Formats: sequence, structure tokens, C-alpha cells
Amino acid sequence: MAPMAGVTDPIMRELAEDQGADLAFCEMVSAKGLSYANERTEDLLEVGPRERLVGVQLFGHDPAVMADMAQRVVDLLGDTLALIDINMGCPARKIQTKGDGSALMKDPALAARIVEATSQAVSVPVTAKMRRGFYADEETAPELARRLEDAGAWAVTVHGRTAQQMYRGKADWSTIARVKEAVGIPVIGNGDVVNGTSALAMIEQTECDAVMIARAAQGNPWVFADVQAALSGAPAPAAPSPIERIETARKHAHMLSAWEPRALVRMRKQASWYCKGLPGASIARGALNQCVTIDDYDRVFDAIEDHLRSVGQEG
Ligand SMILES: Cc1cc2nc3c(=O)[nH]c(=O)nc-3n(C[C@H](O)[C@H](O)[C@H](O)COP(=O)(O)O)c2cc1C
Repeated sequence: MAPMAGVTDPIMRELAEDQGADLAFCEMVSAKGLSYANERTEDLLEVGPRERLVGVQLFGHDPAVMADMAQRVVDLLGDTLALIDINMGCPARKIQTKGDGSALMKDPALAARIVEATSQAVSVPVTAKMRRGFYADEETAPELARRLEDAGAWAVTVHGRTAQQMYRGKADWSTIARVKEAVGIPVIGNGDVVNGTSALAMIEQTECDAVMIARAAQGNPWVFADVQAALSGAPAPAAPSPIERIETARKHAHMLSAWEPRALVRMRKQASWYCKGLPGASIARGALNQCVTIDDYDRVFDAIEDHLRSVGQEG
């Protein structure tokens, strides 16, 4: 499961792992924020009670700070840390205008220095996540990936859109294929994988070594069971029933509440993703947006389930 700022909380990661995700990433973490011991930045590094492995993604542009903070993350997370990923893809204005995220695609020499400094500083694998290029229609990912491989990157993830493209259009999977041809390290394909069928199609078209899923995992941990079944040639598992979806949303809310009650406000959007497409979803969204306590969520989930039963849609 991909890193998603404001979304991939520890409980979402645990539920993804329960459904077969091999690795889930935390939200991107500011190396600079960590270096200032910013409490809210450090909170992003908390792991869930059942989490066995997590990928941590750092963003920043100063090689020395990135290397120091990677070491901090290793010290903090110990064996739970699978790898450190460097964000080279975030297109958000407030990130890339500071030289972070996708701005690194415009400066491959600096990007390589960051990977070099970081991989020399830590014992865990260091990876990088990039886009197809920075400017619209530009493809710099294969050349950047080659440089990062030389600098010590253990793997690269490629999202087949440019930074200027943001989320418009379709991800160009042929970029992933060209990166795969350019390097010997593992390549993780990303962009528009929504189920087992599209995961297999990406692997077939690009020969990538793994797939990373972001938006299709929102309110949908079952996507990982679907992908794992497709990868092993097993029949697709049955889609969750509407009641199962609501019960999983309830479980997510209760686990979040037990872990960190302040995180419950973030459950609003998570809950509306679980409800997406269900009868009454738009009414539910309004009610969910008022929820503050776990009891509030329980009341709304009860009401949605009553509604589903009344329209005969529970199964
Ligand atoms: C809400 C949201 C937050 C995201 N935050 C991050 C992030 O913190 N780091 C990152 O590398 N990519 C981030 N992304 C990009 C995703 O990881 C992924 O590359 C992109 O959504 C394409 O994959 P998809 O088609 O499976 O959604 C974010 C995407 C979304 C929708």
C-alpha cells in the first residue's frame, strides 16, 4: 500500500496487511520537521499495536538532513522498519516549490546525492518513489532511476504520470517498462491499479517486480486480497457485503479510537470511503462529517446498517 498523506494511518495499514498487503507505507514525513523535533511530525512515525512492518517515506532536499533523519527513524522504529523511501514525486505546490518531492526530478544530481548519503547512513534498504517526469510529457524517470541505482537505491517506485499532470489522465505504464529496462534493481509499478486484474495487467505490460496501490485502497482493504489471489492464480475472493464494509469501518474507528482518540476526526473521510456506492451513502457522508466521538460513529454506522436492512441490501 502506497504512502498517502493524511490517509495511511496505522490502523489502515494493519487492515491492509490483514487482507494480504505485503508492505504498507506511512504518510510522507518531513525530514526538516523531524530535525526540529516537531511533535506532529514525530506522531506520523507511530506504529499500530499489531503492525509488524512499515515503510517510512521522508521528504526533503538536504542530503545531510535526510541522512540524519533516516538514522533517527531507524533508531525509533527498530525491527518494525522495512525500508526508508525518499519522496521524489509529490507534485503539491507547497512541497515542490521548496525543492522537495517532485522538484528533485529536476535536479537528478541532488536526488542521487540524497540517496547516496541516506543509504550510507542506514542499514535498512533505501528506495525512491518518483513520477514519469516533472514537466508535462517529459519522461526523465528511466535516466533518474539509473542514477539512483548507481547512488545505492535498493529499488524504485514509478508512478506513470508527470508531476505537472497531477492526477489527470491515465498513468503511462510504458514508462515503468522503460525504467525496468534501464535498471537492475527492483521496480515497483504504481498508478491506476485498482484490482487483481489491473495488477496482473501492469506486471505483464511492464515486467515490474511489485505493484503499489494508493487510491483503490481507500475504504477498501479487500483490494489486497483480490491482488494476492490474482497473483497466485486463485479465484477472486467474493466482494465484501455492504454490512461487512460497514463493520470494517466500525472496526477501523474503534481501533483508531483505542490507539489515539485524537485521530478519530480523520475517520470521517475513511468512513465515507467505506460507504462509497452503498444506498444512502450521500446522507451518511453528511452525518459522518459531524462525528467527533466513537459513540457518534457507532450511531451513524447503526443507522446505515438499519437502512441497508430496510432496503434489503445487507447481504
Ligand atoms: C490523498 C493522497 C495522498 C498521497 N500522499 C502521498 C505521499 O505522502 N507520498 C507519496 O509518495 N505519494 C503520495 N500520494 C501518491 C500515491 O502514493 C500514488 O503514487 C498515486 O495516488 C497513484 O497511485 P494510485 O493510482 O494507486 O492512486 C498520495 C495520493 C493521494 C491520493
